Amino acid sequence: MMNKSDYRFEVSAAGRVNLIGEHVDYCGGKVLPCALSLKCTVYARPNGSDFINLCWSDLLDKVSLDIRELNQYRELKHAKYQAGCAYFWREAGHELKGCDLLIDCKVPFGSGLSSSAAIEVATLGALAVIAGEIPDPVEIALLAQKAEREFAGVNCGIMDQYASACGKKDHAMLLDCKTLKCEQIPVKTGEYSLLIINTNKPHSLIESKYNERREETEMAFSLLKRKMDIDCLADVRPFRLVEYRTSLPGIIYRRAKHVVDECERVRLAVEAMQNGDMKRLGQLLMESHMSLADFYEVTGKELDCLAHAAWDHPACVGARMTGAGFGGCTINLVKSNAITDFKRKVCYRYMQETGYEAICYDAEIADGLTYKKL
Ligand code: GLA
Repeated sequence: MMNKSDYRFEVSAAGRVNLIGEHVDYCGGKVLPCALSLKCTVYARPNGSDFINLCWSDLLDKVSLDIRELNQYRELKHAKYQAGCAYFWREAGHELKGCDLLIDCKVPFGSGLSSSAAIEVATLGALAVIAGEIPDPVEIALLAQKAEREFAGVNCGIMDQYASACGKKDHAMLLDCKTLKCEQIPVKTGEYSLLIINTNKPHSLIESKYNERREETEMAFSLLKRKMDIDCLADVRPFRLVEYRTSLPGIIYRRAKHVVDECERVRLAVEAMQNGDMKRLGQLLMESHMSLADFYEVTGKELDCLAHAAWDHPACVGARMTGAGFGGCTINLVKSNAITDFKRKVCYRYMQETGYEAICYDAEIADGLTYKKL
């Protein structure tokens, strides 16, 4: 591996955890993610050629991408992210220069903490500084989302890439995914701590299931749109959905119910945070998990087991899955003075019931995209 000091720039983007507002970003809802101190860092230098040469701190592979042929790299396992970013960077009218990139990703893969968004945002940040530009985090988030959709095949919303690029230390972003208006909300949890626990169960079938949920919500929207004046599914209020229950096939109703109730919970969660009411916030996290399990069906045995183990611990006021689901992580709101006991008991029970070893992260809420000259 090349030495980091051989590079000219260091660009980092964050993994993210979503506090609440799950599977609503692609329905035009509001989400509440935080950028994490788990980062992907890209070390970059121009090389004067027509190639982007990639190497990774934790992989033996080396890949050279011909910047004149970026379209051909959609099937590459690791490099498709960088290829997608470079493709859309140029497509947006920016100068794309040949460069060497060393990728050092500390966001655990398949954890539901958005390693792919962090990789994309950091890569785009690197392409920007190599081109002599000051990276614009919102534009980078939008280009990163395109790369994820078109090169990685996940028809994702904007939450992950936005959080990875625009996060602010000690704040959650209340991001309206319909308008992209964002309000930074201070995260003050008082005597409670936020703890992330990884089920350590690799996601499986996540792309296909994710895209399937998206289609189901699109169907809900198109059926409801015939009955009411709405721009997106998130515009429907819970009581209105109940009125139109019989217009939707059962499974589509349940998916829509999760989305509209979750949007309501985001509103209540922000209120609870502003009032410093951690018990109320915890309750909403729990309700969110139950809805993702029962109505949206994206949790699975391991996430359910971790969430239930957390709820049963007296120091925990709430916990839920975070991210796309089907494996990945939970977020837990726990009395700080009992956190050691909480970790021990929850991880033990999880191991007994699933055979997997859970991993706890003491990640902090950090800034999104940052860069410096070396
Ligand atoms: C993934 C997607 C996001 C969002 C979440 C679920 O992380 O990339 O856009 O839809 O799932 O909330």
